[in-house]
Amino acid sequence: MPIKWENSRYSDKARKFLSKPPEDFPLLTLLDGAVRSGKTLNIIQKIPQIFDFIGNEYLKVFSGYSKNTVRNNVLIELKPFIENYLGGNVKYNSASGELDIYLWGKLYTCLVVGGGESDSASSIQGGTWDFWYANELPQHHYNFYNMALSRLTPEYAKAFADSNPESSNHWLYQEKIKPYLAGDEVVKSVFDYWHFTMKDNANLSKTFIDNQEKLYQGAFKARKIDGLWIVADGLVYDTFSVSKHVLSQNQICEKITNNDIIEYFMGIDWGWNHPTACLLMGVDREGVYYIIDELYSSKIEADKIVEWIDSKQTEYGRFFSFANCDNARPEQNDKLRTATNLVIYEEKPKVEDSIALVRELINYDKLLVSEKCKSTLNEFETYRYRSAGENGYNSEDADTPLKVNDDCMDALRYALFKHLTTFRRM
Ligand SMILES: Nc1ncnc2c1ncn2[C@@H]1O[C@H](COP(=O)(O)OP(=O)(O)O)[C@@H](O)[C@H]1O
Ligand SMILES: [Mg+2]
Repeated sequence: MPIKWENSRYSDKARKFLSKPPEDFPLLTLLDGAVRSGKTLNIIQKIPQIFDFIGNEYLKVFSGYSKNTVRNNVLIELKPFIENYLGGNVKYNSASGELDIYLWGKLYTCLVVGGGESDSASSIQGGTWDFWYANELPQHHYNFYNMALSRLTPEYAKAFADSNPESSNHWLYQEKIKPYLAGDEVVKSVFDYWHFTMKDNANLSKTFIDNQEKLYQGAFKARKIDGLWIVADGLVYDTFSVSKHVLSQNQICEKITNNDIIEYFMGIDWGWNHPTACLLMGVDREGVYYIIDELYSSKIEADKIVEWIDSKQTEYGRFFSFANCDNARPEQNDKLRTATNLVIYEEKPKVEDSIALVRELINYDKLLVSEKCKSTLNEFETYRYRSAGENGYNSEDADTPLKVNDDCMDALRYALFKHLTTFRRM
């Protein structure tokens, strides 16, 4: 059932947003905050006035994680609003994403696109836009976001976005919200930030709000209810997302066969009672890293690793250039040095430095993992810091993860740190 707009109620914040003249909005305006705080519907309600101000010379784009999420979150209310309340007409072709909005004597040519996949940006190369609405902006791929901003060349072009808070490690927080809140004038000249709580949605009943509050706990309560950008439960890589960062083994093999992946290397964390973790990694021309394969097993000797490396070089039909290994077992590393064709490094990076590098790759969607690497995927979701108040906590723990579920994570740090600091210009 579409909304009955004649019954709408408006908080002071909603009123302030809706009455702001179109010409006073900067290039990008973000409405973020709690779930159900009215972010999306405020933007929907503002769109006709914004269109009228901008005119219909250039393309207008609506994006979300996928075309479907745009339809379910936005078009489902925008269409009846324009047709039943403003006397306009909306035609949507869900296959092509073409969206024609006829309103107040003008035809606005619009396009609906998904921005959540790693190759999304390629679908929007070229062309000028004068309007962009990003529904749930943090779910967009970073490349898509940058490409979209670069399309908005007319000086009157406007972009609007809504979002629920994510991790404070997310690029949107780091690049826009944090500097905005710190008063950065450069950011403020192109970016406006509106923070909404459920209290800013006058259409919700107290009972509804009370019930919503019961649905979430911990970091998720802080994000969804209080609308705060915070790290989830001490997870080290809390921006890692299965839906965005995991590829099927077929997708990986395609990149290998097509020669998209140009270099292969490894990270090894030795264990005995603890498992030994050995990761095969690759990198493509764009600097996107792949975790292609893993060996994860306790009580194995170096000769097993040598065998594994040989068999994987045969399986993938590629030579691996180097391995960066845990320096705690020099005799094992020597065996690899003699028995394989790889250059063997033993450079142990500082935990904090190497975590920062891995985190940066994840935040910018530049680390993708094969679904085949089960132990690695498991560790991404469990590798965490000790929380304040937990048994044995001291202040140094704030930067040092717990030494459990860390074997693949260590192998990953070794491999990436070596490649990023030695072979890539930073
Ligand atoms: N102007 C409005 N008139 C009537 N109901 C509204 C209005 N704005 C928001 N609502 C109600 O609040 C709910 C949440 O709004 P929505 O914009 O989807 O929130 P958010 O995008 O912040 O999650 C809607 O489903 C609707 O029931
Ligand atoms: Mg919404």
